[in-house]
Amino acid sequence: MKIISILNHKGGVGKTTFTGSVAQALALTGYRVLAIDNDSQHNLSSLLNTGVRQPNILDVYRAADGAAPKLFLGAVVKTGLPNLHIVTSCGGLIDGAVGDVYHLKHTIETCGLERYYDFVLIDNAPGLDKLQAAAVNACHEVFVPTELRQFAVDGLVEMERTLKNRCPYGGRVTRIIPNFYRNIRRHNTFLAALNTMFPGRVASTCIPVDPVFDEVVTEGKILFLHRLYSKGAASYIKLVHELFMLDEENVWDSMSNKRNEHIREQARERFFRRAGSWPPIVAQDEEEGDEHE
Ligand SMILES: Nc1ncnc2c1ncn2[C@@H]1O[C@H](COP(=O)(O)OP(=O)(O)O)[C@@H](O)[C@H]1O
Ligand SMILES: [Mg+2]
Repeated sequence: MKIISILNHKGGVGKTTFTGSVAQALALTGYRVLAIDNDSQHNLSSLLNTGVRQPNILDVYRAADGAAPKLFLGAVVKTGLPNLHIVTSCGGLIDGAVGDVYHLKHTIETCGLERYYDFVLIDNAPGLDKLQAAAVNACHEVFVPTELRQFAVDGLVEMERTLKNRCPYGGRVTRIIPNFYRNIRRHNTFLAALNTMFPGRVASTCIPVDPVFDEVVTEGKILFLHRLYSKGAASYIKLVHELFMLDEENVWDSMSNKRNEHIREQARERFFRRAGSWPPIVAQDEEEGDEHE
């Protein structure tokens, strides 16, 4: 099981979009994924259509060491994708809730999460305080989505230094993911600068500007099921293939199969709804037939 924290001291750079999209892509490819919303704005809980639930990550931070693992497992909620679960967040999640910056790490280790998941992705609020430190200490690697702007790029060196000082035993920045990319001279210059500053760590797949990310959130849809053929979805498929060394063909096949299944299921649902019986009543012999297959 690999635990990855998605972090950037800046807001609005695409951390939550990255966490949600990568979590969905990995889940649709067949991996078992747990997303953890570690931001009081709980945007990831909204993106994955669960909203705030009780208990949530705040209760985990508040729980005593002995009680936290059971509480953590109790806070896991199913999302619209079978392989993707989430621990939601809530508005009351503040830095003060974190007593010990190793609490989340110990909780995850104690509750035997590796039996259930291949990947754990932790979405973070902007800043580098105790909440982020808890996530960095709990993870193996830190992924950093970034804009291609002067201050954003400058700030990354400082951010890495701060992380090393504050979380000497935590995960390290292994990947930087350029977001909001346009093929213009300014962006390509920042991209070249990033590659010089962090050789070997900048993803070669950049995420382009695409309104589809806002659309799916507003409409409560899943990027890879409802907008598979958008620029945004295609770039995330390529990115997931690059970051996790997956076979891109497999990722595409698996996504389009899932999408086709989804479309068939929706058509079936529409048909039965129109006929006035949803869920459909399965005939007895049809069920038995399935069992003997
Ligand atoms: N590549 C992109 N193109 C267009 N809009 C994007 C892109 N990535 C993210 N967004 C949008 O930008 C806004 C901020 O993204 P978000 O993931 O919430 O950032 P953060 O979590 O870092 O604050 C959201 O409205 C999101 O839909
Ligand atoms: Mg966010």
